Amino acid sequence: MVMDTAEAFKAVGERAIKKVPALRGKTVVNLFIEPSTRTRISFELAAQRLSADLVNFSVESSSVRKGETLKDTARNLEALNADILIIRHGAAGAPHFLARHARACIVNAGDGAHEHPTQALLDLFTILQHKREVAGLRVTILGDILYSRVARSNIWALTKLGAQVTLCGPATLVPKVFEKMGCRVTWDLQTALADADVVHLLRIQHERQRKVMFPGIGEYTSLFGLTRQRLDMLTPDVLIMHPGPINRGVEIDSEIADGKHSVILEQVTNGLAVRMAVLFLVSGGKGPQEVAA
Ligand code: CP
Repeated sequence: MVMDTAEAFKAVGERAIKKVPALRGKTVVNLFIEPSTRTRISFELAAQRLSADLVNFSVESSSVRKGETLKDTARNLEALNADILIIRHGAAGAPHFLARHARACIVNAGDGAHEHPTQALLDLFTILQHKREVAGLRVTILGDILYSRVARSNIWALTKLGAQVTLCGPATLVPKVFEKMGCRVTWDLQTALADADVVHLLRIQHERQRKVMFPGIGEYTSLFGLTRQRLDMLTPDVLIMHPGPINRGVEIDSEIADGKHSVILEQVTNGLAVRMAVLFLVSGGKGPQEVAA
């Protein structure tokens, strides 16, 4: 349903007039308590293209800085008739907490190291545009898995749809316990890259790591970086994905990030269509047939 609706909204985005009236009269609040470029701006554009009234909440200029709680913040936004609260928060579970206390629809835009559902949806959408099917695909997720909400949401989505998911990175960041989610874990890059249909790279999330997880960035790049020298380990039609922000020269060389296998900017473009679909569906939209009408 989300994929088909996103497909319809992607077509809307290619029209001369990219706006539809689907959310006219609704109020959407972007409640970002953690930094973001792609997710915040694509939700903002998604709400605008659906003709909603949009408020961008800036934590720095808000009463959160005076000690107001998340719950009180949300209740005040509801008192102003907010219909949808899109929340990004550093604490895992913050959107779930709000969903239990708020009447408005709550959309998770990333909570701590827990989940980033719309990122996984846009990643699936991008894979489907290139590979048509997810079942049977070999997908390698490479990097800081332990602290990655993108990894967790992708693992749920990809395994549910029948992909074979391999996780790779330093042992401290890719513990064996992830096998319980239905993945293969390897600490050997060659094994992880051989025959992969999709390589999904993740950055090292220094801001979430509570201790030193490996000796240094140079060593990380030499063991796990997708460098130019490692291009010949990849299959000819491999897709290179990254949720962003990318750290050029650390987990990925510029030549690969900007090269023919990379769909990194396509992911961003697809994120807008997927987030339009999510806002439309949580507001009671029935599916793609309503978008075409
Ligand atoms: N992929 C992603 O969540 O990027 P931002 O942090 O810039 O939103």
